[in-house]
Amino acid sequence: MTEYLSEKLGGRRILVTGGAGFIGSEVAQQLCQQGSKVTVFDDFSSGKIEYVSSLDDITVVRGDVCDRKEVASSVKDQEIAIHLAALPFIPDSYYYPEDFFRVNTMGSVNIVWQSIQSESVERLVHVSSSEVYGTALYTPMDEKHPTLPHSTYAVSKLAADRAVFAMHKEHRYPVVIVRPFNSYGPKVTQPYIVPEIASQLLNGRNPLELGNVNAIRDFTYVEDTARAIILASIEKQAVGETINVGTGVGVRISDLAMLMAKILGKEVNIHIDENRVRPYDVEKLICDFSKARRILNWSPKISLDEGFRMTLDWLRSHPARYETPFAGWPRVYRRSRY
Ligand SMILES: NC(=O)c1ccc[n+]([C@@H]2O[C@H](COP(=O)([O-])OP(=O)(O)OC[C@H]3O[C@@H](n4cnc5c(N)ncnc54)[C@H](O)[C@@H]3O)[C@@H](O)[C@H]2O)c1
Repeated sequence: MTEYLSEKLGGRRILVTGGAGFIGSEVAQQLCQQGSKVTVFDDFSSGKIEYVSSLDDITVVRGDVCDRKEVASSVKDQEIAIHLAALPFIPDSYYYPEDFFRVNTMGSVNIVWQSIQSESVERLVHVSSSEVYGTALYTPMDEKHPTLPHSTYAVSKLAADRAVFAMHKEHRYPVVIVRPFNSYGPKVTQPYIVPEIASQLLNGRNPLELGNVNAIRDFTYVEDTARAIILASIEKQAVGETINVGTGVGVRISDLAMLMAKILGKEVNIHIDENRVRPYDVEKLICDFSKARRILNWSPKISLDEGFRMTLDWLRSHPARYETPFAGWPRVYRRSRY
């Protein structure tokens, strides 16, 4: 696989928006390992320069995906664009809906349009989200599952998907839409559920204070997610397709907390903090990844146990610092930047 990837990607000029973020920095790292010439485009609202600064042959550009000139100059002479930049943390979207549409929807339109205009970018991979489906009407969820998004975040991502797809048709422009289910791993940037549980466990909390622990999610290790996104940038049959990326295994949040506690050798109880229960939360997401297997020759390699061990090892040496006690949503969005 590595030989195949380096043959396809070696020396290629690839723009990664949101490349300093959690998933984006893993994509950038894997591309660098294959010998690509990567440009990371990021406004560092949540991404961190230290996640990419040590990578070889990388160019880092600070910019906003909504800015026409900045994007136009960054896509110039690129061969592939991988678009991950977004405001991704759902509870923030309850409070800043306009910003979520501006960045997630209009930013995506800007990236596609400037890529088309560049006449050099041969393919764009747009990173969507399983959240666009809303709670599962059936499982596992394939790409034909109805899209009934619950949050403003999810609507802003779905609007982007539709715009990207329409522009693909209007301009016969090669795009691929990848829909990752929940990702976890090192280099987290947001108080997603995995770093939240980890930070409480590592700080010795008992009982854990959590919200909707009955929710079920499909967790993919970030290395696997990034590999699927990269394969989408090179596989011919992927063009014009929407492809789900997940493991097909549904994990209840309460079971996840217990698994992580077990790995850390701790025994804990869970207390439901009603303030943490997200309004109109998605109850269940479980991925059918058969299309990813068929088109990308992708399947997840890292087991839950192995993935969570590596994640907890990383979090032990890079503790996530979330305010305690929980002071309500929003938790991270840096409004002052906009
Ligand atoms: N983490 C998950 O479980 C998950 C699941 C499904 C989809 N996704 C999608 O994957 C992508 C990456 O998510 P992530 O979890 O790595 O989040 P992240 O916050 O770590 O990454 C987003 C990156 O985009 C950058 N960014 C935000 N606004 C920007 C702007 N206006 N201009 C330029 N850069 C900007 C941030 O600084 C950050 O580096 C997002 O599109 C998200 O919707 C994530």
